[in-house]
Amino acid sequence: MSSRLIIALDFPSAEQALVFVKTLNPQECKLKVGFELFVAAGPDFVRVLVARGFDVFLDLKFHDIPNTVAGACKSAARLGVWMLNVHASGGPAMLQAAGQAITELDLAKPPLLIAVTVLTSMDQAQLQATGVPVQEPWQQVEHLAKLAKAQGLDGVVCSAQEALALKKSLGQDFILVTPGIRPAGSKADDQTRIMTPRAARQAGIDYVVVGRPITQAPDPLAVIAAINQDLR
Ligand code: C5P
Repeated sequence: MSSRLIIALDFPSAEQALVFVKTLNPQECKLKVGFELFVAAGPDFVRVLVARGFDVFLDLKFHDIPNTVAGACKSAARLGVWMLNVHASGGPAMLQAAGQAITELDLAKPPLLIAVTVLTSMDQAQLQATGVPVQEPWQQVEHLAKLAKAQGLDGVVCSAQEALALKKSLGQDFILVTPGIRPAGSKADDQTRIMTPRAARQAGIDYVVVGRPITQAPDPLAVIAAINQDLR
């Protein structure tokens, strides 16, 4: 079974990211490329990671009209990424167009398509300010996760605290990807609600996203080995 660990490559340049990536084994981890690195290093850097044998999660959270998102998903899929994501709040037509765009490419190994529901930075006040009249952000998380599943997406990004309930309401096969994971004893950084890799696995989380506890560790490979051990 390949690793359930996704390392967040939050570096400001391709050069800095590559120094770190050169130490890694693609059997031991997957890699997440988000806005910071993608805007600095572009698709060529993603191609480099794919060519080195890494499963790449392209975390660009597409959110636009269906036709534009469909085009973006096609471009991402052609890079050979393993997973990509869109905002579920883009609506059913956008989600359907995203999935169809990937299917139309007829790739031997199409990327997994997952959705972002409610950003964890959004509390009730923030949601209500955008016109979403829920008492609890969780209600909106579950609503959007169900929408994503109904439109055929493979899973969602969710917080560790949401995982148990989402597995229950959406089923074991619906993939959950979770940041905010911290090995026991490591710094929380700016993450407020954290969970250890072991607890994440017990909660049914399929893939954990870990950044700074690995990228800023004195011995990143030791941290990777320990997390993989906990996830098994
Ligand atoms: O360094 P750290 O482990 O906190 O990195 C977590 C990664 O997951 C970052 O790339 C961050 O942008 C991402 N993320 C998050 N919380 C969310 C969504 C994404 O931490 N709700």
